[in-house]
Amino acid sequence: MNLRGRSFLTLKEYSSEEIAYLLDLAMKLKEKKKKGILGDSLKGKNIALIFEKPSTRTRCAFTIGCIDEGGHPEYLGSEDIQLGHKESIEDTARVLGRMFDGIQFRGFSHENVEKLAKYSGVPVWNGLTDSYHPTQILADFLTLKEQFGKLEGLKLVYVGDGRNNMANSLLIGSSKMGINITILSPKSLWPHEELINMCREYAQVSGTSIEITDNVQAVEGADAIYTDVWCSMGEEALAAERIQLLKPYQVNDQLLARTGKAHTIVLHCLPAVKGNEITYDVFERFSDQIFDQAENRMHTIKAIMVATLSQ
Ligand code: CP
Ligand code: NVA
Repeated sequence: MNLRGRSFLTLKEYSSEEIAYLLDLAMKLKEKKKKGILGDSLKGKNIALIFEKPSTRTRCAFTIGCIDEGGHPEYLGSEDIQLGHKESIEDTARVLGRMFDGIQFRGFSHENVEKLAKYSGVPVWNGLTDSYHPTQILADFLTLKEQFGKLEGLKLVYVGDGRNNMANSLLIGSSKMGINITILSPKSLWPHEELINMCREYAQVSGTSIEITDNVQAVEGADAIYTDVWCSMGEEALAAERIQLLKPYQVNDQLLARTGKAHTIVLHCLPAVKGNEITYDVFERFSDQIFDQAENRMHTIKAIMVATLSQ
């Protein structure tokens, strides 16, 4: 598999074989790190980390992942660089592309990460935009593989804001990888029709199902329940309205009981607002899986950098 030179903007541009390859590579890199072996596959590579929004996991995963493989990461916060103040995304891209070997971008508009990829001429990795969060999905799927030994045939129910970056990306990733995906959300927060239709085509190829519903009964038979914050970064002003709307969709003991399964696990991309999308008790009960998921950000992000930059 040769992914050298490729950007990673959404999972739409990656085939199921390529996604499976990245997960296998992440698993190998994880084993290597657990044995204390560091690599040099990013030796001589400089990577820029642009952040318009805050981050704990993504920033640290790119930084540590890069250094573990011998590369040099440079953090560029939005207050530190000219981007968005005095310089356009196109010009910033052309400057950084001449100095760096790869660029991570976390920001608001998805169009901006596309422009960075178009104008920089080097691999650009999407570390989250308002629309998509594809690096998170690799960590989620690695965690599911570790828990269940496979992805195909699992039932994953995402509960909460059904049109945010996580819901969109889980829908794409699951339909490509053979996971039966349910988006459980109030109708006003359902994913865009266009995206659902695109994913239905992926699902047809992988032989899996997509369900979009506002009925909590849909968690029945779930192998994993996934949730995310009710207000994404940049939506803080909507908090009161969202709490009202999403209260019936909290991941709590009653909802878990509806799965009718003893082995259902709960996942969360973090950061979590306990008491809103998930109760404190449920969060703590599944904290091992949730923090495995957080750790797996590092192994999977490292895999993306290695696959797209090294020989
Ligand atoms: N899950 C995730 O992307 O976390 P950060 O916002 O801390 O990077
Ligand atoms: N939907 C969340 C994901 C955080 C990792 C947000 O965009 O804030």
